[in-house]
Amino acid sequence: MIWAVVPAAGSGLRMRADRPKQYLPLAGKTVIQHSIERLLSNQNIRGVVVAVAAEDGWWPHLQWSAGDRIHRVEGGAERSDSVCNALQWLSGTADDQDWVLVHDAARPCLRAADLQSLIESLQEDAVGGILAAPVSDTIKRADAKQKIAETVDRSVLWRALTPQMFRLGVLRAALEQIKADGVAVTDDAEAVEYLKLQPCLIEGAVTNIKVTHPGDLLLAEEIILRELEER
Ligand code: CTP
Ligand code: MG
Repeated sequence: MIWAVVPAAGSGLRMRADRPKQYLPLAGKTVIQHSIERLLSNQNIRGVVVAVAAEDGWWPHLQWSAGDRIHRVEGGAERSDSVCNALQWLSGTADDQDWVLVHDAARPCLRAADLQSLIESLQEDAVGGILAAPVSDTIKRADAKQKIAETVDRSVLWRALTPQMFRLGVLRAALEQIKADGVAVTDDAEAVEYLKLQPCLIEGAVTNIKVTHPGDLLLAEEIILRELEER
């Protein structure tokens, strides 16, 4: 069984918009609607648990948010807390061995083929893994004076994307552990790595961007419209 978790409780400070970025309009829908529909259109995914901020007044107004494969839980102070709350709810419904795909509400351009390839590649894996893209720029390490200390070997560097796919029990244990130890993580894999487990990197398209800064919305629109034209 495969479930999806969508952390959507951020306030989108870097976007500097009049509302949390997941509710901004994008190609005729909201950002979050694209993100969730792309998960739900994969028939392997049983349901989506969305973590929404307690004070969020936008979510209830989305017509489609009451769908029977969609469940809302309350978000937390950090992304990892939001994911944790969703996993807690899932634990009452799903098995510890079930797979969970965690996907940012702010990634509306996930390709169906990448989602399917992540699921198929990891189905038999002991740990799980993430969609990721090889780094294409030359990478420099800076010293304290912002001078180049060294050129880093980029052939071993990847950018972490989402979805990130782990077994429910393992991911819950990992997030509980980092919380107990007061460790901050920026993605789910980092929590699993903290347990000394090694997630796989599954190559996905670089167009799976996270809408973060104002210019990203135009880029996302471009990506989605281009994808529609290609069909
Ligand atoms: N998120 C969440 N709970 C939080 C913080 C973030 O569910 N306490 C979600 C966001 O809604 C987003 C995803 O995690 O879908 C990735 O986080 P990010 O891009 O950092 O979004 P924001 O935190 O909203 O943006 P910013 O950091 O610019 O404020
Ligand atoms: Mg943030």
